[in-house]
Amino acid sequence: MVLGALNCRPIANNRLAWSRGILAVALWTLAVAGCARLQREAESPQSRESFNSDWRFAKGDPPGVGDQLSYAKLKSAMLAPAGAQAPVAEYAQPAFNDADWRPLNLPHDWGIEGPFLQEEPGETAKLPSAGVGWYRKHFEVPASDKGRQLFLDVDGAMSYANVWINGRYVGGWPYGYSSWRVDLTPWIQFGGENVIAIRLDNPPKSSRWYPGGGIYRNVWLVKTLPLHVAQWGTYVTTPEVTDEAATVNIDVTVDNRSTENATAKVSALIYSLSKDGKRATLPIAKTEPVTVEVANDSSATAVISTQIPMPKLWSPERSHLYVADVAVFYGDRLLDQRETIFGVRTIAFTPNEGFLLNGKRTEIRGVCLHHDLGALGAAFNLRARQRQLEKLKDLGCNAVRTSHNPFEPEFYDLCDRMGFLVMDEAFDAWQMAKRDNDYHLLFDDWAERDLRAMIRRDRNHPSVILWSLGNEVYEQRDGKNAPLAQKLADIVHKEDPTRPVNMALHVVDASTNGFQNAVDVFGYNYTPFGYAEFRGNNPAIPLIGSETSSCTSSRGEYFFPVDEGDKRSGRFNYQVTSYDYSAPKWAMAPDVEFKAQDENPFVAGEFVWTGFDYLGEPTPYDTDLPATDATEMLKFTDPALEEQAADDLAKRQEIRVPSRSSYFGIFDLCGFPKDRYYIYQARWRPDLPMAHILPHWNWPERVGQVTPVHVYTSGDEAELFLNGRSLGRKKRGQNDYRLRWSDVVYEPGELKVVAYRYGAEWATDTVKTTGPPAALTVSADRSEIRSDAEDLSFVTVRVVDKDGNLVPRSNNLVRFTIEGPGEIVATDNGDPTSHEPFQRSHRKAFNGLALAIVRVNLGNSGKITLRAESAGLQGSSIQIDAAPHPNDTR
Ligand code: GAL
Repeated sequence: MVLGALNCRPIANNRLAWSRGILAVALWTLAVAGCARLQREAESPQSRESFNSDWRFAKGDPPGVGDQLSYAKLKSAMLAPAGAQAPVAEYAQPAFNDADWRPLNLPHDWGIEGPFLQEEPGETAKLPSAGVGWYRKHFEVPASDKGRQLFLDVDGAMSYANVWINGRYVGGWPYGYSSWRVDLTPWIQFGGENVIAIRLDNPPKSSRWYPGGGIYRNVWLVKTLPLHVAQWGTYVTTPEVTDEAATVNIDVTVDNRSTENATAKVSALIYSLSKDGKRATLPIAKTEPVTVEVANDSSATAVISTQIPMPKLWSPERSHLYVADVAVFYGDRLLDQRETIFGVRTIAFTPNEGFLLNGKRTEIRGVCLHHDLGALGAAFNLRARQRQLEKLKDLGCNAVRTSHNPFEPEFYDLCDRMGFLVMDEAFDAWQMAKRDNDYHLLFDDWAERDLRAMIRRDRNHPSVILWSLGNEVYEQRDGKNAPLAQKLADIVHKEDPTRPVNMALHVVDASTNGFQNAVDVFGYNYTPFGYAEFRGNNPAIPLIGSETSSCTSSRGEYFFPVDEGDKRSGRFNYQVTSYDYSAPKWAMAPDVEFKAQDENPFVAGEFVWTGFDYLGEPTPYDTDLPATDATEMLKFTDPALEEQAADDLAKRQEIRVPSRSSYFGIFDLCGFPKDRYYIYQARWRPDLPMAHILPHWNWPERVGQVTPVHVYTSGDEAELFLNGRSLGRKKRGQNDYRLRWSDVVYEPGELKVVAYRYGAEWATDTVKTTGPPAALTVSADRSEIRSDAEDLSFVTVRVVDKDGNLVPRSNNLVRFTIEGPGEIVATDNGDPTSHEPFQRSHRKAFNGLALAIVRVNLGNSGKITLRAESAGLQGSSIQIDAAPHPNDTR
């Protein structure tokens, strides 16, 4: 293949933008001006198209495969795919007839389709995500593409992926959370049909949470010329930032897959981006072109540089972004062009002042997230992730930790745009296993590759402020493993010297055994009582609460008596009380962490475990416990159920727990806020007038009994009224994060709180004893959605009494019907014990609420009507308009 073997296609619009940019920058060099002329003659040299549609899918291997496609057999080919010999199963042969395989579009998670199986572990959500799955896709490549390079870019596939094109092995990647590329070029049929086959093999016992199974993120077909910008080949840094100017350096790595050595010329234009992501018409800066020699079949890096005058800084409050439009020329031909979004900001973690963003102390008000999207499973959906971040924004959260693995690329774009700081984490295990088949099986061969893949992919995002080498890896217990941590940290520093390395560590010894010196920022998990001691031992090392609280609760559940001193209390019916004291033994109420943060202001902030409930890890109901440990599982508010469970325990010597998703979230699995939302909002948005009462006030069985009332408020004082009578005015003390009226005697009626700040009325909240369920109300987060089959409307159903009050303990069965060009993708209610399939169009309400997720059928527009009905209640419906996206060309 030679560099000259280029062929013609129409000019892409962005080429014209380049021409405009060139005209606008007065001192543009002659060479580049020449190129601008040439662009009008040349064709689009590079394309990156979604490769998500029209796949065929089947579970399992064809008969007779045995272990010939096992990781052990394919490992050497995966590690060095170029020219590798690998077995070809029938399913990878182009002639195989896949007509009866299931057609689908990606992203896809086969596990979320269920069913929930009671005998499966709750840890992985009782869902069938393990096993082998095959995907095949037929696609045409025009003859005019001859001379181009074709790559398949996979944002994430769970897991142990291997790829064949036209029956030839081209590579794969085992870690399900990494993004990766395989080169299809040598085996492509130009001017004919091609068949790609991907095999995934998802081992059981590989994860401590629900991993999902399938090609669960986006995939792309990338076409380039032989000389092109490498995968993740642009790296933008801003080493000097003042009010007057920001220096912008861009390392551009150019790959030369041709048979000739080449001299390339690399340059860039910089544009400002508007809030909605549109780039300004005119560039605000340009680099001088730099020449780079790239020998055939190798790569070389050019460093280009410029200055942005009067830079607008990026921060969570003002997430201003720029884009570098990098161009690679060969002679006077434009060979490749790459847009890289970046921001200008300075970051520093300090031992005394915590985190400084643009020179200003910024408290990290973060949450940990797992990758799943609730009822949608692990299958990535942009709108679902954006909705999560919108909710976190309202909460006052400014940071997310991608626990315990890299997320999909779009997540970081959203964080850049919406203003979130990110702790980007690589692993949950190194060489020492937490589960039989987890990452320890891959670490020695893949850790460096996975780490580099994460950093190269994510290092242009201003949102990313920390690289985490891992979560609670067992190696931390012994200082003799500190050199391994150092080795990983060195890799990170080499890939990106501009951000600190940290780890999430939960063993106090790791703060003195040498691990503390391998990281730039020490992350403590669940050790608020150790902050001061850490500081004493390590006066020069910045500290952050990398994982905090792990309080557990079920939305809308309250159990009595309330024992504030016993975090094991408050568990009944496989649910956990929402008084926000309950926690597993290593964990604690939010208040405890708040106090430690306030008393140790050198700590940079916290990442709460977790923002949202997630699939799997249903602590404290996470194992089928043997009889000796089962007392907690035997607590039911209904004595008959308790007796039944005790019988079961006596017979089988274990209790089979139904729980399949977590109780840790500030939001439940649907994204409905739990009470805990308000204790965080009070702290993280202190200037938002807010007061929130718990529990609800529907306790017919508690008349005359003590029923404690707690109030979360951003005020500093509050007065509680029951049926108009004052129950006293309380002031928040130094380390009080909630106000408590612990001896309220229940009577039906109205509870009202009036909160004050600096003596003036600040906010109020009221809860009322409601009547029985009378009707459903329906509301959508968005009543107009794009008809691209990806956009979603999240519809909330509330069970209300005749006066429109939410009936808090109602569990009525809600049936959804839809009219018009849409469909119900999933339903949910936030109950961690429910085994109702997410795909069903009926769903019981859980404590008054249910959710339906709706999308438009591809290519349709018009009006969708979603109706919710329930026996004996007045139903309700909502209209959603499906409109084509202005840029939707499908
Ligand atoms: C931590 C761990 C998390 C999660 C959490 C639950 O120790 O890092 O992954 O398991 O406990 O409290």
